[in-house]
Formats: sequence, C-alpha cells, structure tokens
Amino acid sequence: MILAKRILSGTRPTGKLHLGHLLGVLSNWKKYQSEDAFYMIADWHALTTEYEAHVSLKDVTYEVALDYLASGLEPDQCTIFVQSWVKEHAELALLLGMVTPLPWLERCPTYKEKISEESHRNLLTHGFLGYPVLQASDILLYQADVVPVGEDQLPHIELTREIARRFNHLYKKIFKEPESLLTKEAKVPGTDGRKMSKSYDNCLYLSDSPDELRKKLKKMLTDPERKRREDKGHPDVCPVGYYQTLFNEKSRTDEIWAMCRTAAIGCVDCKMELADKLIEFLAPIYEKRQELAKKKDWVIDVLKQGSQKASKIAAETLYRAKEAAGLWALK
Ligand code: TRP
Ligand code: SF4
Repeated sequence: MILAKRILSGTRPTGKLHLGHLLGVLSNWKKYQSEDAFYMIADWHALTTEYEAHVSLKDVTYEVALDYLASGLEPDQCTIFVQSWVKEHAELALLLGMVTPLPWLERCPTYKEKISEESHRNLLTHGFLGYPVLQASDILLYQADVVPVGEDQLPHIELTREIARRFNHLYKKIFKEPESLLTKEAKVPGTDGRKMSKSYDNCLYLSDSPDELRKKLKKMLTDPERKRREDKGHPDVCPVGYYQTLFNEKSRTDEIWAMCRTAAIGCVDCKMELADKLIEFLAPIYEKRQELAKKKDWVIDVLKQGSQKASKIAAETLYRAKEAAGLWALK
C-alpha cells in the first residue's frame, strides 16, 4: 500500500526489543518504510521515567538500533534516527510547553495510570508530565501525516492534535494535525503466559541465540491442568498452543491442537516442534543482528546520517514556529 505520506513513529529505548515488538510495532513500520518514513529511538522519552535507573541509555539505544536494522528496516528506504541527536525536538518541546495548558497534561490517561501504578517511584517530575508535549514536538516537527502506534498511544496523538490546533490558532497555521494509524496489537504472551514484558522476565528477545530460545521454550508454561502426560490438554488456554497458531502451518496446528486434546501428543514434543518453527522464523533476524554488531561504526553512521536528514526538516519547521510565536529566530 503506497500512501505517499510522511510517517513518523518511535519507541523508547528502555530495553532490547522482543518478539512482541517484532510482531507489533516493527512489522508495521517495515510495511510503511517505502513511504516517506521516519523512525526514531526516543531516548529523551526513556529518560522521563528511567532517570533513576542508572543504566547506560547509550548502550540501550545502540541495541535498539541493532534491533530496528536486524528486523528489516532499511536505511536506504526509511530514516532511522536518535531523538536527542536532533536538538530541535527539545527546543520545540519547550516552545509547545508555553501554549499547553497544565490540565491537559494532568488529565492525560497515560500519566494518571503510570503515576498510580508506580507510586513507589518518583514520577512527579516536570519531565514526565511533559511527556506528551515532547511527543507532540516529535511528530509536529516533521509535519507527519500518519503516526503508526499501538492503542495505548492514542491519547498522545490526540493531545498532539490539540496542541497543534492551539498553536495554529494563537499564532499562525504552522503545524499539520497528524492522524494515528492503529497498529494491530499483536497479543504475544511471554513464556509465563502473561503479557510479554521486560519487567516480568518472560521475553523472547531478537538478540536471543537459537540455544537460548530453545531453553526458554523448554521452560515455557503450558496448560496448568495438564499435569501428567496422560492428561488431556486445553491448547486454547496454553501459550505454547497459541504460539503454534503463530509459527506453525495451519493444518499442522489443527493436528497438534486435536492431539493435545486427546493426549496423543505430549508437551515436550509439542514444545520441541514449536522451538524448531520459532527458531526458523527468528534465526535470520538473529544472524543479521550478529553481523550488524560486527559493524558498529556503520550502525552509528546510519543513525548519524538519519539524524542529519531529520534535523534539516526539523530545523525548518522549528524556525517557522519560533517566528510565528514572535521570537527572533536565526536560520
Ligand atoms: N511514546 C511512544 C511509546 O511509548 C514512543 C514515542 C515517542 C512515539 N515519540 C513518538 C511514538 C512519536 C510515535 C510518535 O511507544
Ligand atoms: Fe500446550 Fe502443546 Fe502441551 Fe497442549 S501439548 S498443553 S498445546 S504444550
């Protein structure tokens, strides 16, 4: 599908990317990469919540770049860049902050949820409250038409539109109001059956070797009611059964499900077959990632060139926005 539109999206480098990212975000981005697409590593956004973590954001940013490239984003098709390397993001966020009413941010559902869920952490910071303002600046700098995101991000896109509208109304029509493009949420359970997430330690990472994957799958949770080999299973409540639907052929999956229900197949065999299929699927990405890791300079160069290209567009928009707001902007 060719939309001939400008696409912008990003992820926060809070850890290496996993199968959930691959089937959700990354596969969608890949689909649109031949459009006028910009994909960002949102390192400033990572810092809004991880500022106390004392991990090297630099290292994680690099790992995420490897994940982007290994999963098939091609730097000669789309622009891959690091948010903090394009200084205009921080500057426009400051300017947009001037016109963004505080209550808009305070009632943002993602803000309220995170503050109450993570009350043990101090997230009552200026930076975290301003998260959507920074995200608005990410999007508006590029006059993006379309922002492919998961459902959780919809409030941020809506706020972006509201901030753009307010700025345009106060000063001059500078910003385009972007549309969101909902990424079909790939519901990939982790190895324990819960949502795949770094904090549950249940992820299959793009950087896991075939051996590591096999080990993780061996330990994977199955139907809890199938305690012995001769117990009949329920593949519909078993994460391994679900993975079969994703990675095995349809006819074979149907067979496995039927055999599970009559106890004709055991969980060990079921898992081993799944491991073969999953490894077949992930091995090319893993191998590409290993190759890329040997070319660190090249990877950094991709990010630098992408950031330069992004910066050219961003600088133009920022200049016009500053002028519109009455600042004395220098070219
Ligand atoms: N907030 C997004 C997330 O957590 C990441 C992000 C930052 C983003 N800036 C963006 C997504 C701009 C789309 C557009 O997933
Ligand atoms: Fe799950 Fe497979 Fe065991 Fe059935 S046979 S319970 S689908 S692991």
